[in-house]
Amino acid sequence: MEHYIVKGGNPLSGEVEIAGAKNAALGILAASVMTSETVTLENVPDVSDIRAILKAIRAIGGHVEKIDRHCYRINGSGITADAVVDNEYVRKIRGSYYLIGSLLGRHRHAAVALPGGCNIGLRPIDQHIKGFRALGADVRLAPPGMVIAEAEVLRGAHIYMDVVSVGATINIMMAATMAEGVTIIENAAKEPHVVDTANFLNSMGASIKGAGTDVIRIKGVQKLHGTNYSIIPDQIEAGTFMFAAAATRGDVVIKNVIPKHLESLTAKLMEMGCQIHESDDEVRVVATRRLGPTNAKTLPYPGFPTDMQPQITVLLGLSRGVSIITESIFENRFKYVDELTKMGAHIQVEGNTAIINGVEKYTGANLSSPDLRAGAALVIAALAAEGISEVYDIHYIERGYEDFPEKLRRLGAEIETIDSELEKRKFQFKVG
Ligand code: EPZ
Repeated sequence: MEHYIVKGGNPLSGEVEIAGAKNAALGILAASVMTSETVTLENVPDVSDIRAILKAIRAIGGHVEKIDRHCYRINGSGITADAVVDNEYVRKIRGSYYLIGSLLGRHRHAAVALPGGCNIGLRPIDQHIKGFRALGADVRLAPPGMVIAEAEVLRGAHIYMDVVSVGATINIMMAATMAEGVTIIENAAKEPHVVDTANFLNSMGASIKGAGTDVIRIKGVQKLHGTNYSIIPDQIEAGTFMFAAAATRGDVVIKNVIPKHLESLTAKLMEMGCQIHESDDEVRVVATRRLGPTNAKTLPYPGFPTDMQPQITVLLGLSRGVSIITESIFENRFKYVDELTKMGAHIQVEGNTAIINGVEKYTGANLSSPDLRAGAALVIAALAAEGISEVYDIHYIERGYEDFPEKLRRLGAEIETIDSELEKRKFQFKVG
């Protein structure tokens, strides 16, 4: 089975270029079929979640033309009101739920398979549904795991979100874009990808104000038109490289970033003793010695992102003293701690809190990625560890990181993707 093999111990050093934001691209790609005109998108990351939503768009009649690795021309004129979004790709990714908001907004009808085939009770989309219903849609669940949303007319409404949800904010924003009248979303998510999706919709002729604040105001327009748009850099990919630099006591310039989006991360790294140098579109992280402890709690933006929780835990596991990490967004996001324990980490998880007793070093081990961000965090642990590690289930990592091993190799890491005993022996021979 394809997996990574890593020989730890090299401080990362050099420059790395960050790709477009996966979670912004998922919303924007779904929104791109809200017009029958052509949309050109640049800085689209080449990761498997994005390939999956592109396949889903093609499968319902959208025309997707690849201009180059990161640039696509999309035309949704072939997507009809009776489109059913259901194939193996759609059910693998969570972002496919954005096609509910976009198709409901455009055609007043959407039939979309639930992501991962999961039970709605386990991965709630109640806030999305509440918003669609407030706009006048009839929303029902139909077997096997389909959401059907339809409306004669969508009318602007005042919607108060009970929880701050990135997905629900983007989905309701899309559905409201062509509704009659004004929609106000209160307690909206403020993540950079919410703002990017709003900016993209505005470039198509939508009238959305306040994205990036708690209150988003959408004045419905009759139709949207084609546009050219470049997706923002990926805040979480950038953060992952920042924490990899710190964990390996390296010196890395992370290029093509928006430093403002990284403030909660730079603040924590500085508290721990890292040097951070920021300029217009890059951040340099320098760690010359063992870092100190800190505490963090995951929160909606601009708080510390849940998608960086495993990476900070890996770093704190190697830092001096005791640190506490509290996960307040998702209940079950400490599954990777068992893997870190195999490497010698001293971390105790109690409910939504991890109490981390920093150790001097990790030791290489065989590791399994439980999900995307935890998988990337385990690679960071392997890069910092003494000896060789093998990281399995890398398909999770490939969902959201473009060329992850290649980018790390360019920074001096010893990491390969291997698929056989022979390749493993070759790697061991190469690294000595
Ligand atoms: C987005 O998920 C991201 N995914 C996640 O990134 C990220 O972890 C998350 O936002 C938080 O930042 C995409 O953008 C595709 P939420 P999303 O709705 O939209 C609860 C990654 O690694 N909730 O903001 O699904 C929910 O259970 C992924 O790239 C409801 O109760 O997250 C959670 O506790 C993982 N009802 C909280 O809100 C709802 O209807 C925040 O979830 C919706 C959400």
